[in-house]
Amino acid sequence: MTAIRATASQQAPVKKVTVATLAALRARDEKAVFVTAYDYPTAVYADRAGVDMLLVGDSAAMTVLGLPTTVGITLDEMLVFTRAVCRGAKRAFVVGDLPFLSYQPSDEAAIRSGGAFIAAGCDAVKCEGGQRIAPRVRAMTDAGIAVMGHLGLTPQSLGQLGGYRVQGKTLAAVERLTEDALALQEAGAFSVLLEAVPAEAAAYVRERVDILVYGIGAGPDVDGQLVISNDALGSFVGDIRPKFVKRYADVGTLVEASFRNYASDVRAHRFPAPEHCYPIDAAEEAAIHAARPSTVAAAARTPEATPVAPLIDSSTARELRDVRAARAFAEARA
Ligand code: KIV
Repeated sequence: MTAIRATASQQAPVKKVTVATLAALRARDEKAVFVTAYDYPTAVYADRAGVDMLLVGDSAAMTVLGLPTTVGITLDEMLVFTRAVCRGAKRAFVVGDLPFLSYQPSDEAAIRSGGAFIAAGCDAVKCEGGQRIAPRVRAMTDAGIAVMGHLGLTPQSLGQLGGYRVQGKTLAAVERLTEDALALQEAGAFSVLLEAVPAEAAAYVRERVDILVYGIGAGPDVDGQLVISNDALGSFVGDIRPKFVKRYADVGTLVEASFRNYASDVRAHRFPAPEHCYPIDAAEEAAIHAARPSTVAAAARTPEATPVAPLIDSSTARELRDVRAARAFAEARA
């Protein structure tokens, strides 16, 4: 009887999350889980954990490249991170973050930059701003690119905002946010991300627009929650600690402690131990050992035979009774 067993190739293919999947989550009142990823391992682990959406954020400038703000990262740098993430994301919906000046200058720039993320494997792109970038959003959506807007605290405009400040704190400000969200919706964006706005403000915007509304520091009344992975995992090297971050691990401390332990093992000659070395045939090992300049030099200093017995257990090796014989053996083989 033939055993019925699913092989890897027979297993049902992983179903990729799409805009339709995200809309279905909202229809069922289920929250989408959204994290940033900048490399292949993070994408794989997040995907395996069932994360629905990955943002290859321009926050990579700060989290990975050690820059002081997000504006210094280039499109080419973003695309390297993006390709790695897309290789790791089998199921998650991947959003590529358009870096500063890659979409603002013209519709053509927006289409070319957005298109480069899609060609790299992204499902959508994200750009910052509302009414003032709506024409760029329209140009990209007309070119077939799915676009997520980003409103509230928009780090590419930090100078205009006066720093990392909560946005939408008054009814008038929330009305402006809503106008911006409506402009993005009108331009064809499938969603908008609200960053650092009060929960009530985000809830207000969500009730006024039809598109999906995601939040990072925007309270619970949105369609899904984004977090910067380094913040959640405790691996951000820097002083910014947003109030809205909940920490799930202390990876930075673990990594540093592991490097300290490694350094101490190396310095104390505890690493590598025999189990970390490649074993070879005992006779060959004896021959190599005997032929080592230091062994030969030691033998020359003590002409009476220097036994190599501890290394020997095969019949060939038994013939190598002293280092002179071993050296002759090695030379004859050369
Ligand atoms: O780049 C990023 O990670 C972002 C989030 C902070 C929203 O844009």
